[in-house]
Amino acid sequence: MKKKIALLPGDGIGPEVTASAVEILKSVAQYFGHEFQFEFGQIGGDAIDHAGSPLPEKTIDICSGADAILLGAVGGPKWDQNPSHLRPEKGLLAIRKKLDLYANVRPVKVFESLSEASPLKKEYIENVDFIIVRELTGGLYFGEPSKRYVNEQGEPAAVDTLFYKKEEMERVIREAFKMAAARKKKVTSVDKANVLESSKLWRETADEIAREFPEVELEHMLVDNAAMQLIYAPSQFDVIVTENMFGDILSDEASMLTGSLGMLPSASLSSSGLHLFEPVHGSAPDIAGQNVANPFAAILSAAMLLRTSFGFESEAKAVEQAVKNVLEAGKRTKDLTRNKAFNTTSDITEDVKAALAAAYANV
Ligand code: IPM
Ligand code: MN
Repeated sequence: MKKKIALLPGDGIGPEVTASAVEILKSVAQYFGHEFQFEFGQIGGDAIDHAGSPLPEKTIDICSGADAILLGAVGGPKWDQNPSHLRPEKGLLAIRKKLDLYANVRPVKVFESLSEASPLKKEYIENVDFIIVRELTGGLYFGEPSKRYVNEQGEPAAVDTLFYKKEEMERVIREAFKMAAARKKKVTSVDKANVLESSKLWRETADEIAREFPEVELEHMLVDNAAMQLIYAPSQFDVIVTENMFGDILSDEASMLTGSLGMLPSASLSSSGLHLFEPVHGSAPDIAGQNVANPFAAILSAAMLLRTSFGFESEAKAVEQAVKNVLEAGKRTKDLTRNKAFNTTSDITEDVKAALAAAYANV
């Protein structure tokens, strides 16, 4: 099948890990008889430097003309002093809002061969396989007012606002229930309903949506307790659904169960059907350009793209199996090992390609 993929490499290690994912997608196209067309767009610091805006119109056009979007990462110290509208992160927030990418799906699955890479003991991370569904276009990231000001007493002050319309809660919670219905049939709705009004409405809304899915169990959990439970007993979770900022924090925490933030892929789902895929990790400017970044999260994001946007289930499974084989063969990027010896970004890319070739060259 013919498909168009918009590529937004961004900053730091973004270009290296997306290049790796593209290599894998090209192999998939070859073995499964597809034609993927890649079109590059700028976002983040890269776009600020070349087009004067963290999300140029042209990038939106490229994305709108594509069947799916693969993004690397944005940000870096180079732009830290920029005014807030010219920060790389603004580009990412803007594309999420513009394309209405309201549900950010972050699967947390421990590869058994990586269990020694996790800072947690093996028995704690056995059977860990859950999904964090993070609301992505509202909550504390987007509420107004959000500004600095001088108060009536003449003191410097700042405000951010956690705002949701009920329907914004409904759609992301419903997405979480749909996923749970196809998995272990449990939703953990995470909030701070003992303090926040927005969380009280969130909780009520979750209770209402739960009635649409009688086969799925709903539990409510306060976010501070959830942070603790993720370390204490992570295998209890199936699908976690939560507010934007809570989800941002909990997903970084959860990534360490897998051994490294460099392992976590994500899908940002829209109402229109044009979805965006990106590794959960950031731009890691300290290691950019050194060929040491972990490309697994980007490669696994490409697998999610194949499955979710194109319905290519066998292709997605093939990529995931290739990653598993490479890890089982002991290949490790720097973040995954305490040994001096490690594999580079391009080593891993070649290894995953070889694993795909071994499985599919004769199909
Ligand atoms: C993420 C990142 C972004 C976020 C930043 C780069 C704006 O941390 O995707 O998790 O906070 O959403
Ligand atoms: Mn984050």
